[in-house]
Amino acid sequence: MTQKKQEDILEPQVGQAETLTPQKKREVKKVIQLIIDAGRSSIKYQAFTDSETVTPVMKVESLVCSVSSTPFGESGAFSMSRSKGEDGKEVVEHWVVGKSARLQGKEYIAMTDGENHKITYFPILCLGALASLPNLYELSTGTSPKRRSLHINLSTLSLAEPMELKKAIEQCKWITVDGVKYRLSFQRSGFLGFPEGYGASLWAKSQLTTEDKYFSVFDIGFGTATDSDYDNLGNLPKRIAATLNGGGGVSALIEDFSLTVSQADSSKRIRPSKLREILETATISDDGKVSALAPDGKDIGKQLEAAIHLWMKDSPLAYAISDLGIKGRRNKIALCGGGFAIPPVQQIVKQRLLKAGIPENHLLIPDNPGTVALSEMKKLYVGENNDAQQAA
Ligand SMILES: Nc1ncnc2c1ncn2[C@@H]1O[C@H](COP(=O)(O)OP(=O)(O)OP(=O)(O)O)[C@@H](O)[C@H]1O
Ligand SMILES: [Mg+2]
Repeated sequence: MTQKKQEDILEPQVGQAETLTPQKKREVKKVIQLIIDAGRSSIKYQAFTDSETVTPVMKVESLVCSVSSTPFGESGAFSMSRSKGEDGKEVVEHWVVGKSARLQGKEYIAMTDGENHKITYFPILCLGALASLPNLYELSTGTSPKRRSLHINLSTLSLAEPMELKKAIEQCKWITVDGVKYRLSFQRSGFLGFPEGYGASLWAKSQLTTEDKYFSVFDIGFGTATDSDYDNLGNLPKRIAATLNGGGGVSALIEDFSLTVSQADSSKRIRPSKLREILETATISDDGKVSALAPDGKDIGKQLEAAIHLWMKDSPLAYAISDLGIKGRRNKIALCGGGFAIPPVQQIVKQRLLKAGIPENHLLIPDNPGTVALSEMKKLYVGENNDAQQAA
């Protein structure tokens, strides 16, 4: 390629694009890999165009608020259209996704509020994730600074039927973020639907030997405690079975925590959102003492410990634990999901699994159990292991 031609391709002509006709400047089409795990409590995602243009793993709270116009300078705010009205004109919707959904002076919807919310609102969560990207503009292409294009290869980590999610997101033709309109082009061939928690299986694989033909991933999320079995026979782990155990996640623990707190002191009522915060910042010492600080500064670690035991015994988590107790004697199990990012939960559930007869070296715990299911996915797209793309 000559020097001149290269410049033509790489340098967008800011401001004059729309008047250029015969020698319209071309730009290299960037294709964004967007990998997204839109969970009940948070959206975990990462975007990159190549190994150099990468966003870190992002985490955005799974909250959405429909507003009458898009606020400027607010994280996760965007306008979009996905349908036409009777008059044939586009119906424009305005949304704010993430923490800032709380600031809109309107009722917001948390994905934890409804069984199917994370599927119903998937397109909004996904576009909210895009809108929250600090480098969205850099990931886009186009010759005009105000009208850009986003070419997206979307990979989802979800239990829902991936094609359903694909159909729903393809309805969205554009988004506007901070006054810039981005045309959305989801690449048909680039759409990949992975099992929820797939990245954790990739991490687990890196910890296994060739002797380990089968293994499990145990993901304690907000709503569910999912136990998935994988084979380790080929290049990539393949899921062969999954049990959801709905109602076995952290939300059930919060209910039990609320109960143990009120039993210890009947005048005490701590809102579930506060309990969740207390839980997330709880600690456990080497000798097993749980600490959790209530808003009045009192340590309610004992009540948290009691709640974790109750949760393990009297919720669908109990089924998962008893299944794993048997499987884990033979196969290794990777423990992941936000539940395992809470130190007392990690320790106490681990102790319970050991008591069930699982050898300690069969329990694999990554450094970042809350995000490993997403952060490990990038390996499939950059670097030497490119199997996912070839498999598409
Ligand atoms: N880094 C962390 N430290 C402490 N607690 C955490 C952390 N990450 C997540 N959690 C807690 O774990 C819970 C479950 O988190 P996770 O991200 O696995 O849920 P999710 O994927 O959104 O839910 P689901 O899988 O049910 O759709 C969160 O609600 C939060 O309370
Ligand atoms: Mg999850």
